[in-house]
Amino acid sequence: MGEVDPVFVQDLEHRPKLSVTEGEDIPLIDLSSIINSDENDVDVVEKLVKEIGSACREWGFFQVINHGVPLETRLKLETASRNFFALPLEEKRKVRRDELSATGYYDTELTKNVRDWKEVFDLVVEEPAVVPASPDPQDNNLTQWFNKWPQHPPEIREAWEEYGKEMQKLGLKLMGLIARSLGLGENRFNEYFKNQTSFIRLNHYPPCPSPHLALGVGRHKDSGAITVLAQDDVGGLQVKRKTDGVWIQVKPTPNAYIVNVGDCVQVWSNDKYESVEHRVMVNSEKERFSIPFAMRPSHYTMMEPLKELINDQNPPKFKPFSWGKFFTNKRLSNFKKLNVENLQIYHFRIQE
Ligand code: OGA
Ligand code: NI
Repeated sequence: MGEVDPVFVQDLEHRPKLSVTEGEDIPLIDLSSIINSDENDVDVVEKLVKEIGSACREWGFFQVINHGVPLETRLKLETASRNFFALPLEEKRKVRRDELSATGYYDTELTKNVRDWKEVFDLVVEEPAVVPASPDPQDNNLTQWFNKWPQHPPEIREAWEEYGKEMQKLGLKLMGLIARSLGLGENRFNEYFKNQTSFIRLNHYPPCPSPHLALGVGRHKDSGAITVLAQDDVGGLQVKRKTDGVWIQVKPTPNAYIVNVGDCVQVWSNDKYESVEHRVMVNSEKERFSIPFAMRPSHYTMMEPLKELINDQNPPKFKPFSWGKFFTNKRLSNFKKLNVENLQIYHFRIQE
C-alpha cells in the first residue's frame, strides 16, 4: 500500500488520539470451570456467570483463557492467513469481494478507504449463508453466499472448517453464560444461531508509514451478537472505557480470545449490556494479524428486547426489526459508499 492520503484524514475523529491510558486492561476471565470438567461445581460456575455479567455491563469487552479451543486449530488458520496475505496482489484479487456476496478479499484500494490501513479476507462459517437479496422490506427474495477459495494456500479450507466449528462451540458457550447472567436459561439464545450468518474475518494490518495519520480500523461497534477475536502479539486493539471514554489498549495475552458484546446483545438485553466502541492502531514497523469470529443470528431473527426482561419498570427500548434486513442494508450502504447515514440500532430506539 502507498502513502496515507491526507484528504482521507480530514475527519478528526478518525485520527489516533493520544489520550490512551497505560496500566488498565479489560477483565480476564478463566473458563476452565466449564470447559475441563463434566461435573461443574455449582458455586464456581455461579461465580463465573457473575464475572461475565459484570464484564458485559462495565466493559462490554473481556478476554477468556482456558476456553477449550485447541491451540493447533488456531495456529493452522493463523499460518494459512499469513500465507494468503503474502501472495501477490493480483492473486488475492482473484477472490475479491463483490456486490452479490460479502465473502472474499478486499484491500483499502478496492474500498477507497485509505483510513482503514488493512486488507481483509472474509469467510462465512455456515456455507452457504442464506441472507436477504435486498434490504427492501417488501422484497422476500433470498440469496446464498459461498466462500471463495484461493488456489493458495490450499490448507486454508480445512483450517477454516476446523476453526469455524470451534468458534461456533465457544460462541454458544459464551452466549449461554451471557444468558445465565441475565437470569435466563443457558440455551435461551441457541435458536437464533441455527442457520447463523456468522463470519470469520482474516485481518492483515501492514506496517504504516504514517501511523499518526491512519488507523487499522476506525472507531466502530460490532453489529452481531458477540465477536470472539484472536490477536497476535503485536497489539493495537483499543477499547473505549465506558466510565470516561478513555481508550484502553488490550494487551496481547498468548492464546487468549477477546470477546465483545455487539448490537444484537444490546437489543436483546434492552441496553443492559451495551455494544462498545473500539478501534485498531497501526504500527510503523510491524505488521499485525487478527482473526475475529463475528457471531451473528439467522437472517430471519427478529431483533427485539427479550420478553422475559421487560416489565412496567423496564419497558422495551427498541422496536422489533429483522436482523437480515438490518445487516443487508448496512452492508450495501458500506459497499456502495452511499452518501446516507449507515443504519444503526438507535434508529429503532423507542423515544421516551
Ligand atoms: C473488527 C475489529 C479488531 C482487531 O474487525 O471489527 O474490531 O483487533 N478488529 O483486528
Ligand atoms: Ni470490531
